[in-house]
Amino acid sequence: MSCKTISVLTSGGDAPGMNAAIRAVVRSSIANGIRVLGVRRGFNGLINGDIFEMNLRSVSDIIHKGGTVLYTARSPEFRTSEGVQKAAQVCKGLGIDGVIVIGGDGSFRGARALSRRGIPCVGIPGTIDNDVACSEYTIGYDTAMNTAMEMIDKIRDTAQSHDRCSIVEVMGRRCGDIALNTGIAVGATAILVPEVKYDMDRDIIDRIKFTQNIGKKHFIIIVAEGLKNVNKISKEIKRRTGIDSRTTILGHVQRGGSPTLRDRVMASEMGCMAVDMLIKNINNKIIAIKNNKVIYMDISKALSVKKHFDIELYKKALNISI
Ligand code: F6P
Repeated sequence: MSCKTISVLTSGGDAPGMNAAIRAVVRSSIANGIRVLGVRRGFNGLINGDIFEMNLRSVSDIIHKGGTVLYTARSPEFRTSEGVQKAAQVCKGLGIDGVIVIGGDGSFRGARALSRRGIPCVGIPGTIDNDVACSEYTIGYDTAMNTAMEMIDKIRDTAQSHDRCSIVEVMGRRCGDIALNTGIAVGATAILVPEVKYDMDRDIIDRIKFTQNIGKKHFIIIVAEGLKNVNKISKEIKRRTGIDSRTTILGHVQRGGSPTLRDRVMASEMGCMAVDMLIKNINNKIIAIKNNKVIYMDISKALSVKKHFDIELYKKALNISI
């Protein structure tokens, strides 16, 4: 079957670079003579028919913008078989030959459900968390890390001036990649990630005391979200080391902002590749980065891969952040 109409949607948490991916999908579809439909608010838009035709100018002036011009949502209705059925009917009614889903694992489970109802899908990994197991890289991750790094550099200025300890919580859902990499980049004394069981004494208090004894006067502690309340950590540090401590939860600032060059280029490449795949009838796949190359994998296989955490890098971080 030849591909005449493609639709594109963003789903789950937004990520800087999603706009660059949408732009690439729209422009390369049109370059190949394919009609392209934008779906608003993720799978909700497919269910409700909130869909519009896009043209070359619909994606002007967005490559440098954070967020997603298509809006996004997490759709509880799409987790029901009735919801998927409705969405599939809408796709068939509009003559959609393929859906490009930009999002994370949750969105890809949605894409798989839709593909099982006969709608060809291709997934593009887009989330700041870098937690799509089949891919070494997700769109938005680079920008989020750079944002976190810039913010923590600012926090460091004031921690240094007051001889304080700053405990900073970063995002990542259940993935420690943002915490590990920003922790290295800002020279954190301790980094807590979900992949490595931590011990308050060994990993924080003893490390602070050791570095304090060799002349260190200010400290940055990075904590991946969901591990431990940063205010509790702060109080314990104050009580046990006497060091005045402050906390910052970076939060959604990490999700916004202009995408980095890396995110824009990756998103553009993946967007073009997704269209190319649908044209070639290569369906129900997730695009991924493996050994720094852009590849694709079967959705089900991709969803069964276990996420790799770079424990060697984590050990190196501990050795040098002293
Ligand atoms: O998946 C991206 C992410 O920002 C996670 O890091 C975080 O756990 C979650 O989304 C926050 O979700 P919400 O958009 O519901 O605040």
